[in-house]
Amino acid sequence: MKTAAKRAHRLDRTASPRAIATLLLACAGANASAADFLDQRRVEPIQGDVAAGAAKAVVCVACHGPNGNAIVPTFPKLAGQRAEYLHSRLSEYKHADAKLPYYAASPMPVQAQALSEADMHNLAAYFAAQKPMPSPTAANTPPGETRGERLYREGDSARGIPPCQGCHGANAEGGPVAAGDQYLVYPALRGQHAPYLSARLSNYRAGWPYRASGDYIMAGVARTLDDESIQAVAAWLAALPPQEQH
Ligand code: HEC
Ligand code: HEC
Repeated sequence: MKTAAKRAHRLDRTASPRAIATLLLACAGANASAADFLDQRRVEPIQGDVAAGAAKAVVCVACHGPNGNAIVPTFPKLAGQRAEYLHSRLSEYKHADAKLPYYAASPMPVQAQALSEADMHNLAAYFAAQKPMPSPTAANTPPGETRGERLYREGDSARGIPPCQGCHGANAEGGPVAAGDQYLVYPALRGQHAPYLSARLSNYRAGWPYRASGDYIMAGVARTLDDESIQAVAAWLAALPPQEQH
């Protein structure tokens, strides 16, 4: 008992993303059916063809905006996002059961159906290489120290909220790549639309989607967040000026 408490305390203090992820995965992984499970813990860097991706992206930009800078704030920006994360999401949509909640409400399973593995690599490389633009609706000035920023940087140990930056990077630019290949799929969050971020966090909290190893990690994180915390952290992230993430 004493040792377990000590260990928990130490985990809380050092909060290494790998330790948190392992813990959360161990809690959640028991529900995963092996055939349906997308293990993102070992991913290869994406080497797509940007020009081929641009040609394929014509249909995507109708929703995701010019060069992947979505105008509609419930549609995610893709510009400057990690290629490995984009590829992982496309692969998830392609193989998802479109009748399940979350997927049933998303246009993406249908969009991804028609894509080959090469298309997904090329599209991921294309959108990752695009310049992220400020949102027309966001303030795009870094707000001062707010509840959202505190949650992002420090979490809230009293409520079990881990610091987001441990996994999503000190500047919300995506996971620390130097720390290992699994972090390639930890997405950038800075400058993303707040309504999209809030919807994703609420979905994770409700257990959706539930297919990739990262979903289990984020479900564990999101269950610690109340609505107010979701709004606060989403608003803070959305107002961060875009920066090229690689
Ligand atoms: C009809 C509108 C529409 C079209 C066309 C569309 N998307 Fe999407 N896409 C969405 C919406 C809405 C979401 C967010 C909802 C969700 O999570 O499924 C999304 C989510 C995504 C995501 C996940 C982003 C993230 O941050 O997790 C990726 C990647 C993506 N789309 C890529 C594409 C690509 C590539 C194409 C073209 C082949 C495309 N989309 C076409 C509407 C669209
Ligand atoms: C232990 C690591 C870890 C921590 C801590 C963590 N995340 Fe995540 N997060 C991930 C991973 C991995 C994914 C990618 C899941 C996937 O592939 O769909 C993700 C995805 C997300 C997404 C979806 C992004 C998109 O473009 O759709 C949001 C939003 C998010 N995290 C917000 C947060 C917030 C806010 C916090 C802090 C309260 C946080 N995360 C803490 C690992 C983490």
